[in-house]
Amino acid sequence: MYRTHTCGELRLPDVGKTVTLAGWVQRLRKMGGMTFVDLRDRYGMTQLVFNDEHIPGISDQANKLGREYVLQVTGCVNERSSKNANLPTGDIEVLVDKLVVLNQSVVPPFTIEDNTDGGDDLRMKYRYLDLRRNAVRKNLELRHKMAFEVRAYLDKLGFLEVETPVLVNSTPEGARDFVVPSRMNPGQFYALPQSPQTLKQLLMVSGFDRYFQIVKCFRDEDLRADRQPEFTQIDCEMSFVEQEDVLEIFEGMIKHLFKVVKGIDFTGPFRRMTWHDAMKYYGSDKPDLRFGMRFVELMDVMQGHGFTVFDNAKYIGGICAKGAATYTRKQLDQLTDFVKRPQVGAKGLVYARIEADGNVKSSVDKFYSQEQLQAMKAKFDAEPGDLILILSGDDAMKTRKQLCELRLEMGNQLGLRDKDRYECLWVIDFPLFEWNEEDQRYYAMHHPFTSPKPEDIPFLETDTGNVRANAYDMVINGVEVGGGSIRIHDSQLQDQMFRLLGFTEERAQEQFGFLMNAFKYGAPPHGGLAFGLDRLVSMFAGLDSIRDCIAFPKNNSGRDVMLDAPSVLDDAQLDELQIRVELKQQDK
Ligand code: AMO
Repeated sequence: MYRTHTCGELRLPDVGKTVTLAGWVQRLRKMGGMTFVDLRDRYGMTQLVFNDEHIPGISDQANKLGREYVLQVTGCVNERSSKNANLPTGDIEVLVDKLVVLNQSVVPPFTIEDNTDGGDDLRMKYRYLDLRRNAVRKNLELRHKMAFEVRAYLDKLGFLEVETPVLVNSTPEGARDFVVPSRMNPGQFYALPQSPQTLKQLLMVSGFDRYFQIVKCFRDEDLRADRQPEFTQIDCEMSFVEQEDVLEIFEGMIKHLFKVVKGIDFTGPFRRMTWHDAMKYYGSDKPDLRFGMRFVELMDVMQGHGFTVFDNAKYIGGICAKGAATYTRKQLDQLTDFVKRPQVGAKGLVYARIEADGNVKSSVDKFYSQEQLQAMKAKFDAEPGDLILILSGDDAMKTRKQLCELRLEMGNQLGLRDKDRYECLWVIDFPLFEWNEEDQRYYAMHHPFTSPKPEDIPFLETDTGNVRANAYDMVINGVEVGGGSIRIHDSQLQDQMFRLLGFTEERAQEQFGFLMNAFKYGAPPHGGLAFGLDRLVSMFAGLDSIRDCIAFPKNNSGRDVMLDAPSVLDDAQLDELQIRVELKQQDK
């Protein structure tokens, strides 16, 4: 037996026991004829004492150890004279009788401590060492717990976990595919699933009724803090349901997770907001509702007073930051620089302070009378001490998005985006289609199988852009953690949808013929959704990037720097695949 206990287990009641522990050397301290070693494993850390007075020469043996050596020690549990209240095992230590070095270690490239000196790249290169650190290990433990609780919740409700294949054809989630060449079918490629969307719909045709899968998905898209090229979905689908049934079951799942994982009870239903209102009041389809600062439209009070920027605008809107009238000129200049950054793209920022006497002092005072400014103030219900920030532009949607960036920045600056508070929201009634100016055609906002709201079906041909979908997203603290829809199960409606999306009959048949054929054999009404497990875990852990809750993540260029993947194939492998690689000039 390598060990009788783990390094996180021993407490005062164990004093007097002879125990065997195994683990890694975290730290070593020499003190005369005594050497102290902190021994670490997944469960915690225990102080070992090597005392020459107890076993002559044993501290010399210990002094030869190095960081990250793997040890097995046997000894007696003693009460410590100076206790360490910060360590769960801090009341005891093990007086070592016998030391076995199970393995040595070269000096690690960074310290395996909570606050490590290792930079990002180094930690990713040696991710197996990074994973020894408490913070990273805890994230994976949380991930396990959440996946486990999801399975428990869904199993109880009769959901069946079914695995779907990874070598498939293109799946329609709107990103680029990762592809895999087939040796047995020269010149042909599989695509890795962007999601199991079509397969889970086929499972509904098969009668599986309530399906889920915790499943890897692959998308070749530009990476951000909340995006990885391979990520994990909690993918779900149900038959004989309407939108309300789906929302209820999965709101329950999120509440269950909050309760069992974080001890947070949500009383009452989650908030709901239409996509239209989310865009109008927050300039985003994933508003962060931990704080207010709803947009107020100001066209009627600010236009027509001789300020040409506003007079020529198609949209003027503002937010009111409570108590921020104390912002200095320098801070306001910095905010102006912020909105002018290319990533935000506004031309300028107008501000108005509400002074102690209620008067409004603005950066555009020369164009407006105090009375006109008071009318503007009234729209915000602003009070003395508040700061109003206004943006305008010639495209309402673009300007709202800019105002959204400003709102989030103000939320950060005023400390309103507390990581320990959770505001959960269903965004509903998404538009079914999205118009693309460049291609001059409609795209499906969610995917082509999403059903229109029944009452909007008559307007599919006449008012296409305004047709609403039976689609929904779950948003927590401004992060889209999940989304789905009720699907089309009627093949005529599906054909119409493909046509509106610009598919020829042949292309629709080529790409989705298998699904359309299946739907001829009695497809039940169905719908579902998928959550991003990585996003949920990083939200629960308060992480800034989903990378930190993935054991072996990719970097921002999509590389695994530890495995050095992707890499070139050798000639023999390419020969077998009958593939010749010829890079375009710019990629060489
Ligand atoms: P969607 O594309 O909205 O829907 O994806 C569902 C959820 O998956 C997460 N997600 C990601 N997480 C990390 N990295 C990525 N690159 C990434 N892309 C998406 C998000 C998102 O909300 N088949 C549909 C679901 C359905 O209709 O049932 C789908 O895939 O949290």
